[in-house]
Amino acid sequence: MPLMELKNICRIYGNGENAVHALKNVSLTVQRGEFAAIVGASGSGKSTLMNTLGCLDKQNSGEYFLNGKNVSELSESELAAIRNRDIGFIFQNFSLIPGLTALENVELPLVYGGTRKNIRRRIAIHALEKVSLQNKMNSFPSEMSGGQQQRTAIARALAADPSMILADEPTGSLDSKNSSEIMRILYDLNSQGKTIIMITHDNSLAAQAARIIRLSDGKIISDSKTV
Ligand SMILES: Nc1ncnc2c1ncn2[C@@H]1O[C@H](COP(=O)(O)OP(=O)(O)O)[C@@H](O)[C@H]1O
Ligand SMILES: [Mg+2]
Repeated sequence: MPLMELKNICRIYGNGENAVHALKNVSLTVQRGEFAAIVGASGSGKSTLMNTLGCLDKQNSGEYFLNGKNVSELSESELAAIRNRDIGFIFQNFSLIPGLTALENVELPLVYGGTRKNIRRRIAIHALEKVSLQNKMNSFPSEMSGGQQQRTAIARALAADPSMILADEPTGSLDSKNSSEIMRILYDLNSQGKTIIMITHDNSLAAQAARIIRLSDGKIISDSKTV
């Protein structure tokens, strides 16, 4: 059974004259353990596709099976549990909470998940160590570089030990040195078995991925595997 299976997904924002067809009949299968890059021009539907895969957004038509389950048939609380437990999200703008330290930011999803305080602290420390931020645990986002903030966001995504990571332009706000560091971390995670789907408009970063899915105007125009 594939990890993710999209069948003829259509997503339309708005209606009538203002309708935007963001995804047009998109079908896609992702197996466990893949590293796939999603590429395409701005407005081609990449974020909409990722939000669908991450159960953050619902299609207007078509079906999405995640781990064999028809996502449309799940309740909002079941979806929230899946997002919290099985999916780690990483965004371009890091989306850390400014008033919380790195450690507190990483702990937060575990707070929502109901993990006990001493256990979640241990998990968060371990996640920050994995991204080499053991010296920044008590720093606030404003006291960290962009690369450090994104590594904190990766640690937060890892805290619940999800099987998949969805990253929307994770290096979009970073210079090339910090981008390479983030990519190295993502490849490490993939080699440890995590399924990774990463949006990028940097062709040189996409070229490193085992699979490149190219979107144009809401459609998949190519889907190639290098291995
Ligand atoms: N919430 C929204 N409401 C209306 N239109 C939207 C919304 N989100 C995205 N769109 C439109 O859908 C299309 C695809 O957007 P998006 O998935 O964000 O593309 P990308 O991530 O490739 O830039 C664009 O035309 C965009 O303007
Ligand atoms: Mg986008």
